Amino acid sequence: MNTLTEKETRNGMDRKEFLRTAGSTALFAFLGISLASCDVTSSNDEELPENGNNGDNGAITIDGNTVRLNLDDDSLSPLRQAGGWMVLSQASVIVVNIDGDLIRAFTDVCPHASCRNNWQYQNQRFICTCHNSVFENDGSFVSGPAGRDLPEFAVQRQGNIVTVTK
Ligand code: FES
Repeated sequence: MNTLTEKETRNGMDRKEFLRTAGSTALFAFLGISLASCDVTSSNDEELPENGNNGDNGAITIDGNTVRLNLDDDSLSPLRQAGGWMVLSQASVIVVNIDGDLIRAFTDVCPHASCRNNWQYQNQRFICTCHNSVFENDGSFVSGPAGRDLPEFAVQRQGNIVTVTK
């Protein structure tokens, strides 16, 4: 204690000033850790397909009218199993795994009034909840104001690499 007091005095710093400075340093260290944690969270969010802006985030590669999906990427894991589906808005496609193997892809633009973000998938049917148009999982029209089929895209699958051609 005496040694510390001598150092404080030597540096022209009284005891209260020293403790205030030490407290600030501890606070900055704490905030530094918190900000670093925020950065990690943000980075993880950017890895989700819905947030990709550049058309290539590892899971999804968009090249003109071709959309390549790597189902090995965990962000696309719902598409690995029967009944799994996703709206990939950056590619403007709905992708569904029909039976564990067969993958189908459709436009995410409803043929009624072009809603894109209100899709549900229930009992193997797509529902646009904007005005409740219903489509089978092969895109054929069932009911509602759309009055026509949901346009389907060609899909090729090689293992866990799925290529959608729009
Ligand atoms: S826009 Fe989809 S039902 Fe109207």
